[in-house]
Amino acid sequence: MSRKNVIEVRNVTMRFGGVTAVSELDMDIEQDSIVGLIGPNGAGKTTVFNVLTGFYRPTEGEVVFAGRRITGMEPHKICSLGMARTFQNIRLFYNETALENVMIGRHVRRSGHWWGAVLGLPGTMREEKNIRKSALELLDRVGLAAHAHEAASALPYGAQRRLEIARALATEPSFLLLDEPAAGMNPQESLELMNFIRQIRDEFHLTILLIEHDMKVVMGVCEHIWVLEYGKLIAEGNADAIRSNPRVIEAYLGEDVNHAAD
Ligand SMILES: Nc1ncnc2c1ncn2[C@@H]1O[C@H](COP(=O)(O)OP(=O)(O)O)[C@@H](O)[C@H]1O
Ligand SMILES: [Mg+2]
Repeated sequence: MSRKNVIEVRNVTMRFGGVTAVSELDMDIEQDSIVGLIGPNGAGKTTVFNVLTGFYRPTEGEVVFAGRRITGMEPHKICSLGMARTFQNIRLFYNETALENVMIGRHVRRSGHWWGAVLGLPGTMREEKNIRKSALELLDRVGLAAHAHEAASALPYGAQRRLEIARALATEPSFLLLDEPAAGMNPQESLELMNFIRQIRDEFHLTILLIEHDMKVVMGVCEHIWVLEYGKLIAEGNADAIRSNPRVIEAYLGEDVNHAAD
């Protein structure tokens, strides 16, 4: 039985002046799946994320998310529809605690107005308390409760990556995009990350799209993979199909893809 698509990318092209970063891309992502987007540096992967999340408006094409056409929508609006992301380079508020970082994510979902906080209205105060409580629960669910009151900058690298994911989860997404979540991790941390990605997919009922250079991670967790080169889709399929695809092997000079099964 085929599953519902969470997102549909139709003929998306993104040009920056003379550079075509993404060219005529089509992608359908099924609900509850963990899927991957790979390709050499500069292939256009992060640009795809920026288009999906509304940071860029595509030059051509359209994106349908949760049954709605989101092309040209503001990022915060797309976020409130249930899409959240992390960044290739970690973006945390380093002087704030882990808890405060997650609370920032929660604020996307709050109903009160800003003046309520300024005036200290009871409804707003209650909401702030609830946000704090649910942020603490979330930190607990992702194994960061012990770090709740530490500054983000003081957390070990792997925990910072996890905190960024927790902040994204705080917006209550149905679709989560992770841009190179294993970057800078050692093999043990990468392994833990794979389990973590599966765990949050199941526990938070997510669909996850990840960009990743670590082929072991990609091949290990993704049920479907798209391969970009110079902004063009050169292959898609499951791990076996990708691993044995001659064009993919060529794009990667044979290295990573063939060692991914080790
Ligand atoms: N805002 C931008 N302005 C101009 N060029 C950009 C911009 N964003 C990305 N590009 C270009 O688009 C191409 C793809 O970049 P990117 O999506 O970051 O690749 P990847 O994430 O696969 O490494 C690169 O040539 C990059 O220089
Ligand atoms: Mg990138």
